[in-house]
Amino acid sequence: MKGLLLTGGHGTRLRPLTYTGNKHMLPIANKPMLMYGFDQIRAAGIKEIGVILGPLQEGIVDALGDGSKFGAKITYINQPDPKGIAHAVIISRDFLGNSPFVVHLGDNLLKDSVPELSREFQKSDSDATVVLTRVKDPSRFGVVQIENGKIVKLVEKPKQYISDLALAGVYFFRQTIFPAIEKLKPSWRNELEITEAIQNLLDAGGKITYHEVSGWWKDTGRPEDILEANQLVLKDLKPSTKGKIDEEVSISGSVEVGEGAVIRRGASVRGPVVIGEYSEIGGGAYIGPYTSIGSHVKIQGAEIENSIVLDGTVIDCRERIVDSIIGKNSKIISEHAYRPSGRRFVVGESTYVSL
Ligand code: DAU
Repeated sequence: MKGLLLTGGHGTRLRPLTYTGNKHMLPIANKPMLMYGFDQIRAAGIKEIGVILGPLQEGIVDALGDGSKFGAKITYINQPDPKGIAHAVIISRDFLGNSPFVVHLGDNLLKDSVPELSREFQKSDSDATVVLTRVKDPSRFGVVQIENGKIVKLVEKPKQYISDLALAGVYFFRQTIFPAIEKLKPSWRNELEITEAIQNLLDAGGKITYHEVSGWWKDTGRPEDILEANQLVLKDLKPSTKGKIDEEVSISGSVEVGEGAVIRRGASVRGPVVIGEYSEIGGGAYIGPYTSIGSHVKIQGAEIENSIVLDGTVIDCRERIVDSIIGKNSKIISEHAYRPSGRRFVVGESTYVSL
Protein backbone atom coordinates (compact mmCIF):
# COMPACT_ATOMS: atom_id res chain seq x y z
CA MET A 1 0.00 0.00 0.00
CA LYS A 2 1.25 3.48 -0.90
CA GLY A 3 -0.05 6.93 0.03
CA LEU A 4 -0.55 10.15 -1.92
CA LEU A 5 -0.97 13.40 0.00
CA LEU A 6 -2.20 16.40 -2.00
CA THR A 7 -0.90 19.83 -1.05
CA GLY A 8 -1.25 21.63 -4.38
CA GLY A 9 -4.03 24.00 -5.48
CA HIS A 10 -4.33 27.76 -5.00
CA GLY A 11 -6.15 28.11 -1.67
CA THR A 12 -7.93 31.22 -2.99
CA ARG A 13 -10.76 31.03 -0.45
CA LEU A 14 -8.26 31.48 2.37
CA ARG A 15 -6.73 34.72 1.13
CA PRO A 16 -4.98 36.77 2.43
CA LEU A 17 -3.50 33.98 4.58
CA THR A 18 -2.53 32.07 1.44
CA TYR A 19 -0.83 34.97 -0.38
CA THR A 20 2.36 34.31 1.49
CA GLY A 21 2.16 30.64 2.30
CA ASN A 22 0.62 27.32 1.36
CA LYS A 23 -2.77 26.78 3.00
CA HIS A 24 -1.74 23.27 4.02
CA MET A 25 0.83 24.80 6.36
CA LEU A 26 -1.79 26.81 8.29
CA PRO A 27 -1.77 25.52 11.85
CA ILE A 28 -4.68 23.71 13.44
CA ALA A 29 -4.05 23.31 17.17
CA ASN A 30 -0.48 24.41 16.38
CA LYS A 31 0.16 21.58 13.92
CA PRO A 32 0.32 22.24 10.16
CA MET A 33 -2.94 21.16 8.53
CA LEU A 34 -1.24 18.69 6.17
CA MET A 35 0.23 16.74 9.11
CA TYR A 36 -3.24 15.42 10.02
CA GLY A 37 -3.56 13.58 6.69
CA PHE A 38 0.10 12.58 6.77
CA ASP A 39 -0.27 11.12 10.29
CA GLN A 40 -3.36 9.14 9.21
CA ILE A 41 -1.44 7.64 6.27
CA ARG A 42 1.45 6.74 8.59
CA ALA A 43 -0.96 5.32 11.20
CA ALA A 44 -2.12 2.92 8.47
CA GLY A 45 1.44 1.59 8.38
CA ILE A 46 2.09 3.09 4.94
CA LYS A 47 5.73 4.06 4.51
CA GLU A 48 6.01 5.08 0.86
CA ILE A 49 4.23 8.40 0.55
CA GLY A 50 4.04 10.67 -2.48
CA VAL A 51 3.44 14.37 -1.75
CA ILE A 52 1.95 16.53 -4.50
CA LEU A 53 3.52 19.98 -4.45
CA GLY A 54 1.75 22.90 -6.08
CA PRO A 55 3.06 26.36 -6.94
CA LEU A 56 3.29 27.49 -3.27
CA GLN A 57 5.67 25.02 -1.69
CA GLU A 58 7.09 27.09 1.14
CA GLY A 59 7.51 25.21 4.39
CA ILE A 60 6.21 21.85 3.15
CA VAL A 61 9.55 20.23 2.34
CA ASP A 62 10.99 21.72 5.57
CA ALA A 63 8.17 20.14 7.59
CA LEU A 64 8.26 16.68 6.01
CA GLY A 65 11.84 16.37 4.73
CA ASP A 66 12.61 12.99 3.21
CA GLY A 67 10.17 11.41 5.66
CA SER A 68 12.85 9.58 7.67
CA LYS A 69 11.99 11.39 10.92
CA PHE A 70 8.48 9.90 10.60
CA GLY A 71 9.73 6.44 9.61
CA ALA A 72 8.57 7.05 6.03
CA LYS A 73 10.06 7.59 2.57
CA ILE A 74 8.68 10.65 0.81
CA THR A 75 8.69 11.22 -2.95
CA TYR A 76 7.80 14.77 -3.99
CA ILE A 77 5.79 15.14 -7.19
CA ASN A 78 5.50 18.59 -8.76
CA GLN A 79 2.20 19.81 -10.08
CA PRO A 80 2.90 23.44 -11.06
CA ASP A 81 -0.69 24.05 -12.26
CA PRO A 82 -3.60 22.78 -10.18
CA LYS A 83 -5.25 20.79 -12.96
CA GLY A 84 -7.35 18.68 -10.65
CA ILE A 85 -7.21 15.87 -8.12
CA ALA A 86 -7.37 13.22 -10.88
CA HIS A 87 -4.49 15.00 -12.63
CA ALA A 88 -2.45 14.79 -9.42
CA VAL A 89 -3.15 11.03 -9.34
CA ILE A 90 -2.24 10.36 -12.97
CA ILE A 91 1.07 12.28 -12.76
CA SER A 92 1.97 10.06 -9.79
CA ARG A 93 1.58 6.86 -11.81
CA ASP A 94 5.30 6.01 -11.88
CA PHE A 95 5.56 6.49 -8.13
CA LEU A 96 2.43 4.41 -7.45
CA GLY A 97 3.55 1.52 -9.70
CA ASN A 98 1.47 -1.63 -9.14
CA SER A 99 0.58 -0.93 -5.55
CA PRO A 100 -2.92 -0.20 -4.23
CA PHE A 101 -2.94 3.30 -2.78
CA VAL A 102 -4.78 5.86 -0.67
CA VAL A 103 -5.24 9.46 -1.80
CA HIS A 104 -5.64 11.92 1.09
CA LEU A 105 -6.48 15.56 0.34
CA GLY A 106 -4.14 17.71 2.40
CA ASP A 107 -6.94 20.09 3.40
CA ASN A 108 -9.24 17.39 4.78
CA LEU A 109 -9.15 16.21 8.37
CA LEU A 110 -10.70 12.89 9.21
CA LYS A 111 -10.68 11.33 12.62
CA ASP A 112 -9.17 7.85 12.81
CA SER A 113 -10.59 6.04 9.77
CA VAL A 114 -7.65 5.54 7.43
CA PRO A 115 -5.83 2.64 9.17
CA GLU A 116 -8.95 0.46 9.38
CA LEU A 117 -10.12 1.30 5.85
CA SER A 118 -6.67 0.62 4.47
CA ARG A 119 -6.67 -2.89 5.99
CA GLU A 120 -10.16 -3.60 4.64
CA PHE A 121 -9.34 -2.30 1.17
CA GLN A 122 -6.23 -4.47 0.85
CA LYS A 123 -8.28 -7.58 1.74
CA SER A 124 -11.09 -6.65 -0.65
CA ASP A 125 -11.43 -6.98 -4.43
CA SER A 126 -12.80 -3.43 -4.77
CA ASP A 127 -11.43 -1.14 -7.46
CA ALA A 128 -12.09 1.83 -5.21
CA THR A 129 -13.35 2.67 -1.73
CA VAL A 130 -14.63 6.16 -1.06
CA VAL A 131 -15.32 7.82 2.26
CA LEU A 132 -18.67 9.56 2.64
CA THR A 133 -20.15 12.00 5.06
CA ARG A 134 -23.51 13.78 5.32
CA VAL A 135 -23.32 17.52 4.65
CA LYS A 136 -25.76 20.42 4.89
CA ASP A 137 -24.59 22.04 1.64
CA PRO A 138 -23.97 19.24 -0.92
CA SER A 139 -23.53 21.70 -3.81
CA ARG A 140 -20.01 22.49 -2.44
CA PHE A 141 -18.80 18.88 -2.71
CA GLY A 142 -18.62 15.75 -4.80
CA VAL A 143 -21.84 13.88 -4.02
CA VAL A 144 -22.94 10.26 -4.46
CA GLN A 145 -26.32 8.67 -4.96
CA ILE A 146 -26.85 5.26 -3.41
CA GLU A 147 -29.50 2.69 -4.30
CA ASN A 148 -29.88 -0.66 -2.55
CA GLY A 149 -26.57 -0.19 -0.77
CA LYS A 150 -24.63 0.52 -3.98
CA ILE A 151 -23.25 3.75 -5.41
CA VAL A 152 -25.07 4.39 -8.67
CA LYS A 153 -24.03 7.95 -9.49
CA LEU A 154 -21.35 10.49 -8.57
CA VAL A 155 -21.57 14.22 -9.37
CA GLU A 156 -19.04 16.96 -8.58
CA LYS A 157 -20.66 20.09 -7.08
CA PRO A 158 -24.21 19.18 -8.16
CA LYS A 159 -26.41 22.15 -9.08
CA GLN A 160 -29.52 20.04 -8.48
CA TYR A 161 -29.91 18.06 -5.26
CA ILE A 162 -29.17 14.35 -5.69
CA SER A 163 -28.26 13.43 -2.10
CA ASP A 164 -26.55 14.85 0.97
CA LEU A 165 -23.79 12.22 0.99
CA ALA A 166 -20.54 13.97 0.10
CA LEU A 167 -17.16 12.51 -0.78
CA ALA A 168 -14.76 13.22 2.08
CA GLY A 169 -11.26 13.73 0.73
CA VAL A 170 -9.95 10.18 1.21
CA TYR A 171 -10.00 7.61 -1.59
CA PHE A 172 -8.57 4.10 -1.96
CA PHE A 173 -7.67 2.95 -5.48
CA ARG A 174 -6.06 0.23 -7.54
CA GLN A 175 -4.49 0.64 -10.99
CA THR A 176 -7.95 0.43 -12.63
CA ILE A 177 -8.42 4.14 -11.80
CA PHE A 178 -5.75 5.14 -14.37
CA PRO A 179 -7.70 4.28 -17.56
CA ALA A 180 -10.75 5.93 -15.95
CA ILE A 181 -8.72 9.13 -15.51
CA GLU A 182 -7.34 8.92 -19.06
CA LYS A 183 -10.90 9.16 -20.39
CA LEU A 184 -11.55 12.47 -18.59
CA LYS A 185 -11.96 15.88 -20.19
CA PRO A 186 -11.42 19.07 -18.13
CA SER A 187 -14.56 20.06 -16.21
CA TRP A 188 -16.27 23.48 -16.09
CA ARG A 189 -13.60 24.54 -13.57
CA ASN A 190 -10.92 23.30 -15.96
CA GLU A 191 -9.89 20.40 -13.74
CA LEU A 192 -9.69 16.64 -14.16
CA GLU A 193 -12.26 15.64 -11.55
CA ILE A 194 -11.63 12.53 -9.46
CA THR A 195 -15.40 12.29 -8.93
CA GLU A 196 -15.91 11.89 -12.69
CA ALA A 197 -13.04 9.38 -12.88
CA ILE A 198 -14.81 7.22 -10.27
CA GLN A 199 -18.03 7.52 -12.30
CA ASN A 200 -16.07 6.30 -15.37
CA LEU A 201 -14.75 3.39 -13.32
CA LEU A 202 -18.29 2.53 -12.24
CA ASP A 203 -19.55 2.76 -15.86
CA ALA A 204 -16.76 0.39 -16.93
CA GLY A 205 -18.06 -2.21 -14.45
CA GLY A 206 -15.63 -1.44 -11.63
CA LYS A 207 -16.49 -2.31 -8.03
CA ILE A 208 -16.81 0.80 -5.84
CA THR A 209 -17.40 0.39 -2.13
CA TYR A 210 -17.99 3.10 0.43
CA HIS A 211 -17.65 3.85 4.10
CA GLU A 212 -19.56 6.47 6.03
CA VAL A 213 -17.38 8.56 8.38
CA SER A 214 -17.97 7.52 11.97
CA GLY A 215 -15.86 10.15 13.75
CA TRP A 216 -15.67 13.73 12.57
CA TRP A 217 -14.55 15.07 9.20
CA LYS A 218 -13.67 18.59 8.18
CA ASP A 219 -12.80 20.18 4.85
CA THR A 220 -10.87 23.35 5.56
CA GLY A 221 -11.59 25.39 2.45
CA ARG A 222 -12.84 28.52 4.24
CA PRO A 223 -11.66 30.47 7.32
CA GLU A 224 -14.71 29.38 9.34
CA ASP A 225 -13.85 25.74 8.53
CA ILE A 226 -10.33 26.25 9.88
CA LEU A 227 -11.75 27.57 13.17
CA GLU A 228 -14.13 24.62 13.36
CA ALA A 229 -11.32 22.15 12.66
CA ASN A 230 -9.33 23.85 15.42
CA GLN A 231 -12.26 23.29 17.81
CA LEU A 232 -12.64 19.64 16.84
CA VAL A 233 -8.96 18.91 17.42
CA LEU A 234 -8.77 20.91 20.68
CA LYS A 235 -11.75 19.00 22.11
CA ASP A 236 -9.36 16.03 22.56
CA LEU A 237 -6.47 18.10 23.92
CA LYS A 238 -4.52 16.53 26.80
CA PRO A 239 -3.21 19.11 29.28
CA SER A 240 0.57 19.46 29.50
CA THR A 241 3.02 22.09 30.70
CA LYS A 242 6.57 22.45 29.45
CA GLY A 243 6.67 26.20 29.98
CA LYS A 244 6.25 28.33 33.10
CA ILE A 245 3.00 29.30 34.79
CA ASP A 246 3.37 32.05 37.41
CA GLU A 247 1.50 32.01 40.68
CA GLU A 248 -1.93 33.63 40.69
CA VAL A 249 -2.74 32.56 37.16
CA SER A 250 -6.25 31.23 36.71
CA ILE A 251 -6.19 28.06 34.62
CA SER A 252 -9.09 25.71 33.93
CA GLY A 253 -9.86 23.02 31.36
CA SER A 254 -7.21 21.40 29.14
CA VAL A 255 -4.31 23.71 28.49
CA GLU A 256 -1.06 22.86 26.72
CA VAL A 257 1.83 25.21 27.41
CA GLY A 258 4.83 24.79 25.11
CA GLU A 259 8.49 24.88 26.02
CA GLY A 260 9.78 28.30 27.01
CA ALA A 261 6.27 29.80 27.08
CA VAL A 262 5.31 31.96 30.09
CA ILE A 263 1.91 32.76 31.54
CA ARG A 264 2.26 35.79 33.78
CA ARG A 265 0.61 36.51 37.13
CA GLY A 266 -2.93 37.82 36.71
CA ALA A 267 -3.54 36.11 33.34
CA SER A 268 -6.46 33.80 32.90
CA VAL A 269 -6.60 30.79 30.57
CA ARG A 270 -9.71 28.68 30.09
CA GLY A 271 -9.11 25.58 27.96
CA PRO A 272 -9.08 23.91 25.67
CA VAL A 273 -6.21 26.15 24.68
CA VAL A 274 -2.78 25.48 23.23
CA ILE A 275 0.05 27.96 23.72
CA GLY A 276 3.12 27.50 21.55
CA GLU A 277 6.81 27.64 22.38
CA TYR A 278 8.31 30.86 23.75
CA SER A 279 5.00 32.74 23.78
CA GLU A 280 4.08 35.12 26.56
CA ILE A 281 0.63 35.68 27.99
CA GLY A 282 0.75 38.82 30.12
CA GLY A 283 -1.14 39.64 33.32
CA GLY A 284 -4.61 40.92 32.50
CA ALA A 285 -4.87 38.82 29.34
CA TYR A 286 -7.61 36.22 29.01
CA ILE A 287 -7.30 33.30 26.60
CA GLY A 288 -10.61 31.49 26.24
CA PRO A 289 -11.79 28.12 24.90
CA TYR A 290 -10.81 26.83 21.46
CA THR A 291 -7.87 29.15 20.99
CA SER A 292 -4.50 28.17 19.53
CA ILE A 293 -1.64 30.55 20.14
CA GLY A 294 1.44 29.88 17.99
CA SER A 295 5.06 30.27 19.04
CA HIS A 296 6.85 33.55 19.92
CA VAL A 297 3.48 35.32 20.35
CA LYS A 298 2.98 38.10 22.95
CA ILE A 299 -0.42 38.90 24.35
CA GLN A 300 -1.12 41.74 26.77
CA GLY A 301 -4.46 42.90 28.10
CA ALA A 302 -6.65 41.39 25.38
CA GLU A 303 -9.37 38.75 25.67
CA ILE A 304 -9.19 36.12 22.94
CA GLU A 305 -11.62 33.29 22.31
CA ASN A 306 -12.18 30.70 19.57
CA SER A 307 -9.27 32.02 17.54
CA ILE A 308 -5.96 31.09 15.96
CA VAL A 309 -2.98 33.40 16.40
CA LEU A 310 0.00 32.55 14.24
CA ASP A 311 3.70 32.72 15.17
CA GLY A 312 5.42 35.96 16.05
CA THR A 313 2.29 38.07 16.48
CA VAL A 314 1.91 40.76 19.15
CA ILE A 315 -1.51 41.67 20.59
CA ASP A 316 -1.45 44.48 23.11
CA CYS A 317 -4.84 46.11 23.57
CA ARG A 318 -7.90 46.10 25.81
CA GLU A 319 -10.15 44.51 23.20
CA ARG A 320 -12.07 41.29 22.96
CA ILE A 321 -11.07 39.23 19.91
CA VAL A 322 -13.29 36.31 18.88
CA ASP A 323 -13.59 33.88 15.94
CA SER A 324 -10.42 35.27 14.35
CA ILE A 325 -7.40 33.99 12.46
CA ILE A 326 -4.45 36.34 12.80
CA GLY A 327 -1.53 35.79 10.44
CA LYS A 328 2.17 35.52 11.27
CA ASN A 329 4.14 38.47 12.67
CA SER A 330 1.08 40.75 12.89
CA LYS A 331 0.58 43.54 15.42
CA ILE A 332 -2.72 44.49 17.01
CA ILE A 333 -2.05 47.28 19.48
CA SER A 334 -3.86 50.18 21.16
CA GLU A 335 -2.25 53.54 20.73
CA HIS A 336 -4.53 55.67 22.88
CA ALA A 337 -2.03 58.51 22.98
CA TYR A 338 -2.33 59.13 19.23
CA ARG A 339 -4.64 61.80 17.87
CA PRO A 340 -6.90 61.91 15.95
CA SER A 341 -8.53 59.00 17.68
CA GLY A 342 -9.77 56.16 15.52
CA ARG A 343 -8.72 52.71 14.36
CA ARG A 344 -5.54 52.42 12.34
CA PHE A 345 -4.95 49.60 9.88
CA VAL A 346 -2.30 48.36 7.54
CA VAL A 347 -4.10 45.38 6.06
CA GLY A 348 -3.24 43.29 3.02
CA GLU A 349 -5.38 42.52 0.00
CA SER A 350 -8.51 40.39 0.62
CA THR A 351 -8.34 40.97 4.36
CA TYR A 352 -11.56 40.64 6.33
CA VAL A 353 -12.08 42.95 9.33
CA SER A 354 -15.31 42.90 11.33
CA LEU A 355 -15.62 45.72 13.91
O1 DAU B 1 -13.22 18.28 0.58
C1 DAU B 1 -13.83 17.25 -0.14
C2 DAU B 1 -14.04 17.66 -1.57
O2 DAU B 1 -12.70 17.90 -2.13
C3 DAU B 1 -14.78 16.58 -2.37
O3 DAU B 1 -16.10 16.44 -1.89
C4 DAU B 1 -14.80 16.96 -3.83
O4 DAU B 1 -15.40 15.91 -4.57
C5 DAU B 1 -13.39 17.18 -4.35
O5 DAU B 1 -13.39 17.59 -5.71
C6 DAU B 1 -12.69 18.25 -3.51
O6 DAU B 1 -13.35 19.47 -3.74
P1 DAU B 1 -12.72 20.94 -3.59
O7 DAU B 1 -13.32 21.84 -4.59
O8 DAU B 1 -12.88 21.34 -2.16
O9 DAU B 1 -11.20 20.69 -3.93
P2 DAU B 1 -9.99 21.71 -3.79
O10 DAU B 1 -9.79 22.40 -5.08
O11 DAU B 1 -10.16 22.54 -2.56
O12 DAU B 1 -8.74 20.74 -3.57
C7 DAU B 1 -8.76 19.72 -2.62
C8 DAU B 1 -7.34 19.39 -2.17
O13 DAU B 1 -6.54 18.88 -3.25
C9 DAU B 1 -6.55 20.53 -1.58
O14 DAU B 1 -5.80 20.00 -0.50
C10 DAU B 1 -5.64 21.00 -2.71
C11 DAU B 1 -5.38 19.71 -3.46
N1 DAU B 1 -5.21 19.87 -4.92
C12 DAU B 1 -6.26 20.35 -5.65
C13 DAU B 1 -6.18 20.49 -7.02
C14 DAU B 1 -7.33 21.01 -7.82
C15 DAU B 1 -4.02 19.52 -5.55
O15 DAU B 1 -3.05 19.08 -4.87
N2 DAU B 1 -3.93 19.65 -6.90
C16 DAU B 1 -4.95 20.12 -7.68
O16 DAU B 1 -4.78 20.22 -8.91
